[in-house]
Amino acid sequence: MTPAISDQRSEVMLHIGTTIDSISDDYLKPIETNWQASELLPLTSDTSFISDLKTIQEQAQNLSYDFLAVLVADTITEEALPTYETWLSGIKGVDQYENNGWMKWLRRWTAEENRHGDVLNRYLYLCGRIDMRQFEASTQFLIADGFDNLAATDPYKNFVYTSFQELATNISHRRVASIAKQEGNNMLSKLCGLVAADEARHAKAYKLFVSKIFELDPSEMMIAFETMMKRKILMPSQCLKQLGSELNIFSNFSDAAQRIGVYTAHDYIDIMQSLIDEWKIETMTGFNEEAEKARDYVMALPKRMTKIADRIVVPKTEYKFNWILA
Ligand SMILES: [Fe+2]
Ligand SMILES: [Fe+2]
Repeated sequence: MTPAISDQRSEVMLHIGTTIDSISDDYLKPIETNWQASELLPLTSDTSFISDLKTIQEQAQNLSYDFLAVLVADTITEEALPTYETWLSGIKGVDQYENNGWMKWLRRWTAEENRHGDVLNRYLYLCGRIDMRQFEASTQFLIADGFDNLAATDPYKNFVYTSFQELATNISHRRVASIAKQEGNNMLSKLCGLVAADEARHAKAYKLFVSKIFELDPSEMMIAFETMMKRKILMPSQCLKQLGSELNIFSNFSDAAQRIGVYTAHDYIDIMQSLIDEWKIETMTGFNEEAEKARDYVMALPKRMTKIADRIVVPKTEYKFNWILA
């Protein structure tokens, strides 16, 4: 028998689903005016293509090893979009067959996200410093292996995950954009900045979904938030592999990102705190006893995690990924 709690979640999803078309219009851009990769990088049909390519490759010479490793891993993460669409389409309340508002949101979100992998992949191809076969194989591994975000089919937990993850990708792409700019690589900086701006818009939408759930079902939403914070928000590239090895290289990517300050343990805590503030957890009313305990746990978490993060020592040595040409 389906537990009653799931029925409640289905009703909440149905209710929010009635307004989701206007949320989609507010937080996703029309295709007609949205940027595309072709506007940001030279086309082979351009008469200036050869000289533009030379400029891209010259500018890419300034990019550090760790920076390139992070850029490749970020691209692989974006390219694994089929994994994310698959799991989101399985969320309770997102009905693929009824073509309800949620599925329309999901298709439009996926369509917008799809440009991220396209534009980053194309840059990697043009820049001349990447072993494309190795990068492509790692992408294929990540999609084939799949990924468990520990939220199962629960909409409440999944929207905590997506709110968090969109904010994390916003930070990561934004920092990559600013490092590229410092290195005088304006083209790369611009495209990463545009990707980051998309992620920020997506984060707003997912945070809004959670706010709406808090209005309708505060205790269960609070408990779901606590559960996801306890389980930790795993990065989608948690099981990153390279050709010819079963070794998981995620921690090597994460170390590189921490070394260049693109995404750190403190960023994780800042995101958590921003969600606590956004959802007004401290002052929210209407919680049952279990949710009150969950609130106490979550409110204390950023401070506890900061103490742990302060003790993290990131290895100084660069790991040699097979994605990057010598
Ligand atoms: Fe993205
Ligand atoms: Fe996104």
